[in-house]
Amino acid sequence: MLLPFAVAPIALIPGMLLLPGAAADDLLDAALGVAALAPPRRMMTPMGKPMSAAVTNCGELGWVSDAAGYRYAALDPESGLPWPALPENLADFAARIAAEAGFPGFAPDACLVNFYEPGTKMGQHQDRDERDFSQPIVSLSFGTSAVFRIGGLKRRDPSTTVTLHHGDVVVFGGPARRVHHGIDRILPGHHEQLGAKRLNLTLRKAG
Ligand code: SIN
Ligand code: FE2
Repeated sequence: MLLPFAVAPIALIPGMLLLPGAAADDLLDAALGVAALAPPRRMMTPMGKPMSAAVTNCGELGWVSDAAGYRYAALDPESGLPWPALPENLADFAARIAAEAGFPGFAPDACLVNFYEPGTKMGQHQDRDERDFSQPIVSLSFGTSAVFRIGGLKRRDPSTTVTLHHGDVVVFGGPARRVHHGIDRILPGHHEQLGAKRLNLTLRKAG
């Protein structure tokens, strides 16, 4: 049986729901455990520049970027080892929240972990390296707040922003699955475990 949302969801655009404060700190602890095993690093974009955020992954597949392009890979290119396992509490939470948001049967096999220092950002992009766009993306934010920009299907479509805070969850699928999005900036702040940093997790069904 599904539990009702603890907080009222807010529809940001059709297919994209914000669940304020829905993610508890045990999920942050799980993400920090992943980062201890596979340290976050600034990957190179295909254009040869380092990404602004430092990234790592867990799950069967991890999102990677280098001179060859963007793709999912089963092994961490730094260590040559499989990515750390997707923590059960994260997988269960993502499946439950996706179902509540109208996407039943979500079984994530990849989780991208982004660390943002003050001054970093994430350019506007679409998440389109996954096989099945009927599967949503579940995004969890921890630490300092950030300005999340939401555009449309085309790069030049009008966009809007929303500030994401510690514990906020965004689910996007259906008509919102391939909208452009990014992080304009990280707001000043302090979190007990993360200091001035922001941590974002995106759970995906990649393979
Ligand atoms: C992403 O699109 O990969 C990250 C979005 C975020 O940091 O909230
Ligand atoms: Fe994204």
